[in-house]
Amino acid sequence: MDVIHTVAELRRRLAAERRVGFVPTMGNLHTGHLDLTRIAARHAACTVVSIFVNRLQFGPSEDFDRYPRTLGDDCVQCEAAGVSIVFAPDESEMYPAPQSCTVDPGPIQHILDGVARPGHFRGVATVVLKLFGMVQPQVAVFGRKDYQQCKVIEGLVTQFSLPIELVFAPTSRADDGLALSSRNGYLSVTERAEAPWLNAELRRMVDAIRAGQREYSQLEAASVAALVARGWQPDYITVRRQSDLEPATAADRSLVLLAAARLGSTRLIDNVELSL
Ligand code: PAF
Repeated sequence: MDVIHTVAELRRRLAAERRVGFVPTMGNLHTGHLDLTRIAARHAACTVVSIFVNRLQFGPSEDFDRYPRTLGDDCVQCEAAGVSIVFAPDESEMYPAPQSCTVDPGPIQHILDGVARPGHFRGVATVVLKLFGMVQPQVAVFGRKDYQQCKVIEGLVTQFSLPIELVFAPTSRADDGLALSSRNGYLSVTERAEAPWLNAELRRMVDAIRAGQREYSQLEAASVAALVARGWQPDYITVRRQSDLEPATAADRSLVLLAAARLGSTRLIDNVELSL
C-alpha cells in the first residue's frame, strides 16, 4: 500500500490505473469505513482512501480542532483491508490558496443538518469536488449514515456531469444498533450505553408508520419529547421523502426517517429508509 501526500505524486501513481474506486474520509477509521473500502474493491482493482479533516465543513464552534487525527493507525487498518493507496494531503496541499471558489449545493444545504450546521454542505461539496479532481475515480463509495451528504454528492455528480459512478453503502452498526461513527469515540461510558436509543426511536416511528400512522408531525413531536425525557437535545427527528428530503405527506411511498440529536457534547445522526 502506498501512502501519498501530494497531488503530483498521486497523479504519477494513478497514471497506469484503469479503474479506481475511491472512499473519501476524514480518518479515525472504524469498521464502517473499512466496509466502504471493501465495497470499492468490488468495483475497481485500485482502491484509494483519502484522509483529510476538512476545515471548510466545520462551523466555528464545532469540533475541528479536537477531531481525532490517527493517520498511523488508519494506514495500518487500510493496509490490512487491502487498500491500494492512502491519500493524506495536508491543509496547504488541499487549500494552497484561500478557497474563494466553492460549490453551492442549492436548497438541500439549508434543511435538516444544514440548519444546525450552516455552510457544512458547501464545505463538503467543495472538498469532494476537489478530491474527485485529484483522484479522478471511476467509482466513489459513501455511507448512507450521512444521508443528506449522499443527496448533496448525488446532486454534485449529476448536475456537473461528473463521470463517476456513486455507490451509497448501508450504514454499518454496532451489535446494539448504534450507527458507527468516528464521533462515537467522544461518548462517555454512560452516553455510549444510551446512544442506541436514537436508532431505537427511529425504529419505533417506522413501526408506527407500518401500523398505519400517517400524522407524521404528531409522530415527530412524540419522538422529540421521548428523546428530551431521556436527556437528549434533538435537532430533528423527522419523516421525509427520499427524493428531496422535504417533509413527507401521507401520499409519499419512499420515505426516510432522519434524526440528529446531541447526547452530552456529542452530536449523533442516524436514519432509516422505509418503503410503503
Ligand atoms: O463523510 C465524511 O467523512 C466527509 O464529509 C467527507 C465526505 C470525507 C468530506 O470531507
